[in-house]
Parts: sequence; structure tokens; C-alpha cells
Amino acid sequence: MNAASPPRRVENLATDRGVIPQYATGVVEQPWGSYSRGDHAVWAALFQRQRELLPDRACTTFLANQQALAMSADAIPRFDALNRPLRAATGWELVGVEGLLPEAVFFEHLAQRRFPVTWWIRRPDQLDYIAEPDLFHDLFGHVPLLMNPVFADYMQAYGAGGLRAQREFGDEALLNLTRLYWYTVEFGLIREPAGLRIYGAGIVSSKGESIHCLESHAPNRIGFELERVMRTRYRIDSYQKTYFAIDDFEQLFAATQQDFAPIYARVAGAPAIPAGAVQESDRVLHRGSREGWPEGADV
Ligand code: PHE
Ligand code: CO
Repeated sequence: MNAASPPRRVENLATDRGVIPQYATGVVEQPWGSYSRGDHAVWAALFQRQRELLPDRACTTFLANQQALAMSADAIPRFDALNRPLRAATGWELVGVEGLLPEAVFFEHLAQRRFPVTWWIRRPDQLDYIAEPDLFHDLFGHVPLLMNPVFADYMQAYGAGGLRAQREFGDEALLNLTRLYWYTVEFGLIREPAGLRIYGAGIVSSKGESIHCLESHAPNRIGFELERVMRTRYRIDSYQKTYFAIDDFEQLFAATQQDFAPIYARVAGAPAIPAGAVQESDRVLHRGSREGWPEGADV
């Protein structure tokens, strides 16, 4: 950390060969005083829009914990202010970062119960979609569930598991873990007495996907099964073709308590599953109609 130089805004590079992700490594102080009126207005617009949409769509723990954190549309929250209730609830703490982190750095933070939050917020022309995490996605989407003790333990275990996979198992195991993160932390659904609800941060921070994941007939909704998820490919450029629903956070945590060494070995010997495929053995909650999916695409 260097007090003299302001933190950078590390974004993907758009080039004629497509988008190239850029990585940052260090931790930065949130330059709260440097946010413009426009930045606060982007936060307010996104915050209000999602809070209107999410009652009866997001899971109860997300909604209740977001209240408990006292996030509001008034201004971009200060990381320090969120850290007080967060530390008290689960011992997690937010740290500011400049952009995407290399995998090892990200795992290390999670294993230490530190959640990296991008300090900068998207531009007004990116309200509906941004390819990379920004402050709105990270704070609004991820932080409420870190207040839940079981989910908080899952996230730490994931970080520790990632470090272990890097040391002992290599790229295939890391891909399996990335899929697990994608289909749970980012795009997970949960079964509640009143019906299916959202807990994934990638969904709650997106207006379109918050509606699509629950209301569209197109995607599959399937009961969470660890190895099934670790074999399933995912798309980053469209809504998900398949969502996996957990029964509760205890189920998610319990499934990942076992030693993954034999699981990585089994998954390595089994074919990957296309993002939109349904398997014989799936516990299907909704079989997708596939409407609007491109014919013959890798789904
Ligand atoms: N149990 C896993 C292992 O033995 C670690 C892990 C925990 C991975 C939670 C993902 C989520 O490696
Ligand atoms: Co995220």
C-alpha cells in the first residue's frame, strides 16, 4: 500500500482480438473521497433497482443480512463501516483491490477470511452488464452472505481448498473448483419453503439474470450434486443454461468437508458436461425448454 499514489482502476482490455483480462495483486485503501457524484449515482441506481426486484427472489439470509449491514442507496458504502458488523458476525473483513486477482492471491485472501472488493464502480453505460467484477457486484452481491456463519465457513474452506489444489493437484482440479465457485457462490439457487430463491452474487447483482434464473422456461434447474457441478462447463457471455439449487447452506458446506483428492481423480476420468445438458442421474427441478438457445452451440 502506498499512500502517495492513488489506486488504479484495473479493467479488462478491449482489443481487436477480444477482451483480455488484466490482473492486480495488492491491497489498497478505499479512496472514498475520490468517488464522483456520478459514481454515487450509479450505486444509487443499481441499489434501488435490485432492492425492488429482490424481495421474493433473493433468499431470506441475503435480504436480512443486507439490512443488517445498513447498505443504502444514499452513497457508496465505506468498507470500514461494513467491516464492523461483518467482523462481529463472522470474523470476515473486506479489503480493497484494484481489479481481478491472480488465483493464488484470491485463494489466500479467502483462506484468511478476507474478501477482496474492487474499489471502483462501473460507468453509467454499464448498468445492465459488465464483464468483470466491480464495486457494485462485490459489495452488493457478495458481502451479505459473508454475514451467514455457515456460508462464511464455506468461503474460507474454498480458499484453503484452492491453495491445496494448487500445491497438490494442478490445473484440472483448479478448473473443477472454478466451476464449483461459479455454480454456487456466483450463480447458486437455494430451495426455501416458499420456493426457489437466489443466493449467487452474479445473479443478485444483475437485473436481467435475477428475473431469468427464476422465471424463464429456458434454463435447467437441477438439485446440487458436488461432482456433477465440478464436471459442468459454464458460459461467461450469456445467462446460465443450468442453475443448481442447494437445500440449505449446511448441505453445501457438508459436501465440501470431505477430502477432494479422490473426487478430483474421479472427475478427471469422467467427461465434462455441456452447460445446458441434463443427465439421467440429475434431480431435475425444471427441465429447460432451451428456447432462445443458439442451435448447435456449445451448450
Ligand atoms: N475439501 C476440499 C479438499 O479436501 C477443500 C474444499 C472446501 C474445496 C470447500 C472447496 C470448497 O481439498
Ligand atoms: Co463475484
